[in-house]
Amino acid sequence: MSRTSDDVSTVSDVLVIGGGIIGLVTAWRAAQHGLATAVVDPEPGGGAARVAAGMLAAVTELHYGEQTLLGLNLESARRYPDFAAELTEAAGLDLGYRRCGTLAVALDADDRAQLRELHALQQQSGLESEWLSGRECRRLEPMLAPGVRGGLRVDGDHQIDPRRLAAALVTACERAGVVFHRAWAERLSVARERARGVRTADGTDLAAGQVVLAAGSLSGRLAGVPDEVVPPVRPVKGQVVRLTVPKRYAPFLSRTVRAVVRGGPLYLVPRENGELVIGATSEELGWDTTVTAGGVYELLRDAHELMPGITELPLAETRAGLRPASPDNAPLLGPSALDGLLLATGHHRNGVLLTPVTGDVMAHVLTTGDLPAAARPFTPGRFAATLTEQPA
Ligand code: GLY
Repeated sequence: MSRTSDDVSTVSDVLVIGGGIIGLVTAWRAAQHGLATAVVDPEPGGGAARVAAGMLAAVTELHYGEQTLLGLNLESARRYPDFAAELTEAAGLDLGYRRCGTLAVALDADDRAQLRELHALQQQSGLESEWLSGRECRRLEPMLAPGVRGGLRVDGDHQIDPRRLAAALVTACERAGVVFHRAWAERLSVARERARGVRTADGTDLAAGQVVLAAGSLSGRLAGVPDEVVPPVRPVKGQVVRLTVPKRYAPFLSRTVRAVVRGGPLYLVPRENGELVIGATSEELGWDTTVTAGGVYELLRDAHELMPGITELPLAETRAGLRPASPDNAPLLGPSALDGLLLATGHHRNGVLLTPVTGDVMAHVLTTGDLPAAARPFTPGRFAATLTEQPA
């Protein structure tokens, strides 16, 4: 389908619903492949990336039972250096991409046992990580509490600033000719058993040859999507605190530090610009994005236990966002059961990490109709049985 001068703003080859980092990277890559591409979102560059810490933590966020997801995470991590260089060039913006590595530490004997298990799993999976004593951890990061009992050094887990990433993707999309419709997508238009576009909240009909649903945690809420196609994505709330490291304290931390404190994962991500991101809670509370005293208290209490010096730092921001979680914690990528409708959603804890591979996979399937091998375990069809079992 090609655009004419009359319909340039409402007809496209590809219409992406959702202007978060996943929708934006899909649109950017599609446009680079010569497809006339549009994005519908009231606030492109918003979404979960406004809150995310931006850890590229394929190795330190490894969990039992998620080895298939690990393959995709590693594939995306491998693509990050080239992706970041290309996007920086395309947008003329710095992404805050930092190959600083990660240190995962244990505060007590239970944490240490858990970290030893993670180390064993990493080794079984052929991943690079090095066990360090508490003293070695503190030599690397002197601000750590004296009680740290040991840790894992993972130099391959890096970070990026998700807000800069989102802003750069908006600019790169604009420069590649992507059209932005700054409106809410209200209803999917379906005719003759095929997705044809969307109707926006202001009553505009946007038509497209292919529609990509990339609306993060909202992906299951678009009206007009047939029941058997609705992606099983739910919101998982994360609260995050941002501190500032004044120049006189720098470098407060030279790499990302992670820990499990009282059973909950905690991370401190130091940016080159002095921001220190502390996250995150994990709460199943529906659409609630309230920042609570309890959430902030727990983050600061646990971070203080890990690194007592944080109490000296100015508090810059508190915020909550919603991770788009799927039943197996892995994304849904590629064609849905409805012709013309593709999904790029459900990235849960790994949206920032999976941005490069998602863009490539989606561009490939949009241009060829085929899902690349790396993405085949993540087809939306894997949940088909679950969906048909759900009560009407
Ligand atoms: N990937 C970090 C988080 O979801 O909190």
